[in-house]
Amino acid sequence: MALSVEQLAEDCRNILSEDSGEAGLEQIRLVVEKFLADQEFIDEHLGPDNDANRKVLYEDPNLEFCICAHVFKGSNEAPPHDHGPTWAIYGQASGQTVMTEFEKIEAPDGNTPGKVKPTKSYDLDPGMAVAYPIGRLHSPKRAGETRLIRIEGKDVTKLKRDSYEQA
Ligand SMILES: [Fe+2]
Repeated sequence: MALSVEQLAEDCRNILSEDSGEAGLEQIRLVVEKFLADQEFIDEHLGPDNDANRKVLYEDPNLEFCICAHVFKGSNEAPPHDHGPTWAIYGQASGQTVMTEFEKIEAPDGNTPGKVKPTKSYDLDPGMAVAYPIGRLHSPKRAGETRLIRIEGKDVTKLKRDSYEQA
């Protein structure tokens, strides 16, 4: 039987109510990889009938974390960013994301973007999940379509985030 969004939500809830720090995120990352390995779960939420850029599958009424399914079409490179006051876990279901992480050189100031320099770059291939704790600057790039399960500590579309550019 396929794993369900409700089970994923319950696992996240159990972990986060004990530990919402980096150790908790690592546990959730492993849970996300378990769900990515369930082809039925992936087909249900990221099958060919879904082409939504962002679909919130579940939002926790108390802890506020969100489970999202994303279909990203075409090629793109996002600017360096963090998720403001929250974290995110990126789970690659199909396609490939080339992720770069950055170190902050200069803090953003008003309308002036902060300055960053790259520290490492790696591929996210299907089945892999990576956690980005609060403040971890990163930039995903893709050459073609990707499909992801992402978990956000809070709905990032409702948060104000600073902008950054490469020094
Ligand atoms: Fe991000």
